[in-house]
Amino acid sequence: MTDTFRLDDGNLCVRAMQAEDAATVQRCRNLPSIARYQGWRPTTAAEVVALAHEQVDRAPGMQREPFQLVIETCHEQGNYNIVGDMGSGAFDPGRQMEIGIVLDPAWQGRGLATRACRLLFTHLFRTGLHRITARVDPRNAPSIRLFERLNFRREGLERLCYWDNDYNEWTDEVVFATLAPEFANTAPGP
Ligand SMILES: CC(C)(COP(=O)(O)OP(=O)(O)OC[C@H]1O[C@@H](n2cnc3c(N)ncnc32)[C@H](O)[C@@H]1OP(=O)(O)O)[C@@H](O)C(=O)NCCC(=O)NCCS
Repeated sequence: MTDTFRLDDGNLCVRAMQAEDAATVQRCRNLPSIARYQGWRPTTAAEVVALAHEQVDRAPGMQREPFQLVIETCHEQGNYNIVGDMGSGAFDPGRQMEIGIVLDPAWQGRGLATRACRLLFTHLFRTGLHRITARVDPRNAPSIRLFERLNFRREGLERLCYWDNDYNEWTDEVVFATLAPEFANTAPGP
């Protein structure tokens, strides 16, 4: 069982999405500024609950099927607050993983996405992952800045490679990637 997957740096936690997170995740993923450039837009909380149940035997980077995580921050009182989520899927299980991330707009601009990615990627590379990729719409400037901040390499531009059903258009994708030794050599912070 991997539904207890959890990383915690004392202030920030990245853990397996649970059924009780469904309403928060579904609301955030459907905010217009969030939904615009990412593919998973669950129409109901029940869809999120179903994925939470499906993924109990999964772990990030270990299978082709999606594994969804939530990002939480810790209050002074010791309670945790969901601020965003991360989606992962491994096209080469155990070796290569793709990542996507969203942060609630109320929590953006504070370095939380950068910290959440560092926490997860450091753990996954230490436990044997070889390469992490991210695919970003070239118009998605904050996301491009995020992966540049994490020192991912820009490997290329795939032209009109993704059909966005909701926006009725073919879209380009910038492919970003990092390898375990490259990531280990990146400077910490912000
Ligand atoms: C992609 C996304 C998660 C990035 O969120 P973000 O808040 O910009 O990223 P971080 O939390 O790491 O914050 C970094 C920003 O906070 C600023 N910042 C302010 N205080 C900071 C602090 N104490 N520490 C670090 N950064 C800080 C940084 O300068 C940076 O701003 P900049 O990009 O204007 O230079 C967010 O834009 C999002 O959810 N987008 C919609 C969903 C989406 O398209 N996802 C991509 C699919 S792959």
